[in-house]
Amino acid sequence: MTDSAWDPRQYAVFAGHRGRPFADLLARVDAPAPRLVVDLGCGPGELTLGLARRWPDARIVGVDSSPQMLERARELDAGGRVEWVQARAEEWDPSGAGARVDVLVTNATLQWVPTHLRLIPSWLASLAPGGTFAMQVPSNFDAPSHRLMREVAARQPRADDLRPGLDRARAVAQPETYAALLLEHTAGVDVWQTTYQHVLSATAGGPHPVLEWVRGTGLRPVLGVLDAGEQEAFVADYERELEAAYPRRPFGVLFPFTRTFAVARLPR
Ligand SMILES: C[S@@+](CC[C@H](N)C(=O)[O-])C[C@H]1O[C@@H](n2cnc3c(N)ncnc32)[C@H](O)[C@@H]1O
Repeated sequence: MTDSAWDPRQYAVFAGHRGRPFADLLARVDAPAPRLVVDLGCGPGELTLGLARRWPDARIVGVDSSPQMLERARELDAGGRVEWVQARAEEWDPSGAGARVDVLVTNATLQWVPTHLRLIPSWLASLAPGGTFAMQVPSNFDAPSHRLMREVAARQPRADDLRPGLDRARAVAQPETYAALLLEHTAGVDVWQTTYQHVLSATAGGPHPVLEWVRGTGLRPVLGVLDAGEQEAFVADYERELEAAYPRRPFGVLFPFTRTFAVARLPR
């Protein structure tokens, strides 16, 4: 299966909404003076640059598998404040930074890494004493946006080709699974779920905003498999379903979105 490439411009359309969970995650990280901070799955870099502003004296490393996202990140980071590294999380070697990591943040990325439950212990082992691991994943596999994507995919002539990419999102575990895993390795954890009520603006006659949202993320595995004609048919069918599930109202479209957060700290 080939994913379509990440498109930093499409991803940025909802940057304000997407930034909020990152801020909520970082609000629970108590690290006054870290020396090395890593953002695993840093994307287009805006949020990573926020880490640099919060910890001006720290080395900041942004890791991502997408050359398109890293290109955008380097453009944004005109001063070269962050070390940008292209690597898949599955193969990323934390010791490559040459020092123990004090804060490892991974925001809205591990849903793309089906083996992450096996990788988390090795990332914890790379932390300095007292180091912090902070993660956030979408927990929206059963939300209408994703359930309808699977239902429409199942109606396509190439349903069998679409299933593997869509099933991958099952990789996200329950909050208690993250809590139990992290407690095996750390002194204490803080795990919670939040459902954001995103209010998305919708222009009359324009594309449905939830379609535009998932185009930047969850729909990519579908679009990467289909040719242009098949994409058009899929999107038309899917958008009809989204119009019914997330109706347009005078204020826009209400898009509830549940996310799971976990912060764990090693003993000193
Ligand atoms: C939804 S974006 C999140 C970006 C950023 N952390 C944020 O919160 O805006 C997911 C990012 O994960 C990256 N990604 C996906 N699979 C990955 C993998 N296996 N290893 C490393 N990065 C990956 C993508 O390239 C993309 O930049």
